[in-house]
Amino acid sequence: MKMYLSREMERMLDGEYGVGKQMAMKVLVALGDSYNAEKMVRIKSAHISGASYDTVGEHGLHLIKEMSSDCEVVVKTTLNPIGFDRDFVEEIDEDFYAKQMELLQIFQKMGVELTCTCTPYYHHNLPKFGEIVAWAESSAIIYINSLVGARTNRESGFSSLCSAITGYTPYHSLLIEENRAPNFVVKVKEKLNPGMLGLYIGKEFQGIPYIVFDYIPDEDYLKLMGAAMGASGNISMFHAEDITPEHNKYDTKGLERVEVEKKDLEDLTGNKDFEAVVFGCPHLSEREIADIVKILGNREVVKPIYLYTSRGVMARMRREVEFLRRKGVRVLADTCMVVSPLLRGKYRKIATNSGKAYHYLRSKKFGGFEVYLGNTEELLYDSTR
Ligand code: F3S
Repeated sequence: MKMYLSREMERMLDGEYGVGKQMAMKVLVALGDSYNAEKMVRIKSAHISGASYDTVGEHGLHLIKEMSSDCEVVVKTTLNPIGFDRDFVEEIDEDFYAKQMELLQIFQKMGVELTCTCTPYYHHNLPKFGEIVAWAESSAIIYINSLVGARTNRESGFSSLCSAITGYTPYHSLLIEENRAPNFVVKVKEKLNPGMLGLYIGKEFQGIPYIVFDYIPDEDYLKLMGAAMGASGNISMFHAEDITPEHNKYDTKGLERVEVEKKDLEDLTGNKDFEAVVFGCPHLSEREIADIVKILGNREVVKPIYLYTSRGVMARMRREVEFLRRKGVRVLADTCMVVSPLLRGKYRKIATNSGKAYHYLRSKKFGGFEVYLGNTEELLYDSTR
């Protein structure tokens, strides 16, 4: 079945609105046809990943340059982290700096907001319940689908850019009400590390989990769990009983039921002997920073601690950030431990509280570190005295 296209979309395809829109529409039509989508729908916003030159590379830079030559984004569009904090560029290789800034300028010229964060939903770009958007960045996708009730498919950096340029996305998968129903039930009886729990569910199961907690997880817990789930598997949405906004829309009777307990997660931790600790994957919220400040208190930092957050959160937490920096903690915006080359070559053994960072930092592409996955409090105590 060929997808229905409006006259405006056909004009875009014919190149009447320029090369950029034509390329973008071609990509979306091919994508829609591959999913058997019946039509395209308008989007309210876009979020683009693949913003770091480290992940985009020369080929990606050229492609984006070509597309951007004669068009701009037509909806609110935010950007994922880049390869460094724009306020701290001394340690950055000159060539890398130049390429990254060129990429940023291209996005800026197109009207993309240079938010450089994977948590745009805290300040810059918070969709409403039921709104259709085209977002890339697996951690943000699972967050807004599950905790906000907005609707996005798992877009790539490139397909989200195509949607931002045209204002449309093919209508399929998670945009459709019935495809958002849970496929299995997970019962969590004891309080588990959110990163480990997410990694386990992502690795072991497919589809949309309906999670029943015997405790009340907060938003930050669910953010860490969701990010890990999206990284280790293909999960882009979950329901949490009595917590997430669509949990009571669907019937869970007759679904497969599983229980997860501590012993299931034993393989997911690593060796505790680490040289530096990293927090903020996804970028830290105000509450997470406040918790870190509280735990650190009068303690002295003895191992390098890196915190990654957004500029929006940093601006609201100025006093806390100054306190942390006086202690020697490195608080960075715009970037993260995975998409920046900053930690590579400097350390071999890293600890984190993030299942997503644990998943990526161990892979060769992102440094091949030995990684220990622990709890926030435990890791802060082990890095201070
Ligand atoms: Fe964000 Fe980087 Fe993690 S983009 S989700 S902090 S890998």
